[in-house]
Amino acid sequence: MKLDVISILDLQDDLEDVIASAMRLKGGALKDAFPLKGRTLAMIFEKSSTRTRVSFEAGMAQLGGHALNLSPKELQLGRGETISDTAKILSRYVDCVMYRAFDHKMMLDLAKNATVPVINALDDVEHPCQTVADLMTVLERKKRFKGLRLAYIGDGNNVCNSLMLGSAIVGMDFVAANPDGYGPDKQLAKKAQGLAKKNGASSELTTDPKAAVKGADVIYTDTWVSMGMEEEAKERLKIFQPFQVNSALIKNAKKDCIVMHCLPAHRGQEITDEVMDGPHSVIFDQAENRMHTEKAILLMLIR
Ligand code: CP
Ligand code: NVA
Repeated sequence: MKLDVISILDLQDDLEDVIASAMRLKGGALKDAFPLKGRTLAMIFEKSSTRTRVSFEAGMAQLGGHALNLSPKELQLGRGETISDTAKILSRYVDCVMYRAFDHKMMLDLAKNATVPVINALDDVEHPCQTVADLMTVLERKKRFKGLRLAYIGDGNNVCNSLMLGSAIVGMDFVAANPDGYGPDKQLAKKAQGLAKKNGASSELTTDPKAAVKGADVIYTDTWVSMGMEEEAKERLKIFQPFQVNSALIKNAKKDCIVMHCLPAHRGQEITDEVMDGPHSVIFDQAENRMHTEKAILLMLIR
């Protein structure tokens, strides 16, 4: 049976192996071996992307394969061909389909109808590939997950949902501080609580950013206005102001805490320049790790 990566939960059994493989790739493993020679990845982007697009495309090239960047505007999808028919057709041509979508239902429809593996490159519910790179970065810096506390500050969005589940899978304590009404998906939060408990960790929600970062080893934030929410921007910028990751906030965390952001950052909004470019930031390593983890995911799915 094919494996799809729609949720980080789909990687539950493979997560630590994928991260280990990404670390080997970062160290130079398979350089010039081209294990994906002759393989093709189709990438459909309904929304903008820098990291995901370039890391997958460059990653495929480095592994000897080929990636096609397809925008719905250029595909017949943009003229009304269904996502299920698109899935069936692409499956006849390529070895894997990656999709960045506005609507999670479209993602599920694509996965259901494709006969090749489907990778979620971000939708309105999750961003699983981001979480793999995030966890790799934590492990690289802290050498473990158990006993660590990750505080996510800001919007309970796709990135937050996947990171909350990913933390539960690896047994790292997770707390999200979000404004009232802007927390992560309730069902996923419940799922994360159960999973965290099973793995000897905790998964909590609060509306108090200062309390969340107390004793934190990792502080994480993301934009307050995700793609597709532009109309709510004005209101959100006001509501989220107390959730800015700035020097005053990180003083409450552990002295050796690391600061993470999936990027793109809105400097001066969810994170200040001072923190982003400061000594706690591992943000650019985290972005680099997208490439190594993307390659590890591709190898697992289509080698
Ligand atoms: N973090 C992330 O997915 O970035 P892009 O939107 O640039 O792909
Ligand atoms: N939460 C952001 C992540 C961008 C990578 C968004 O969905 O726009």
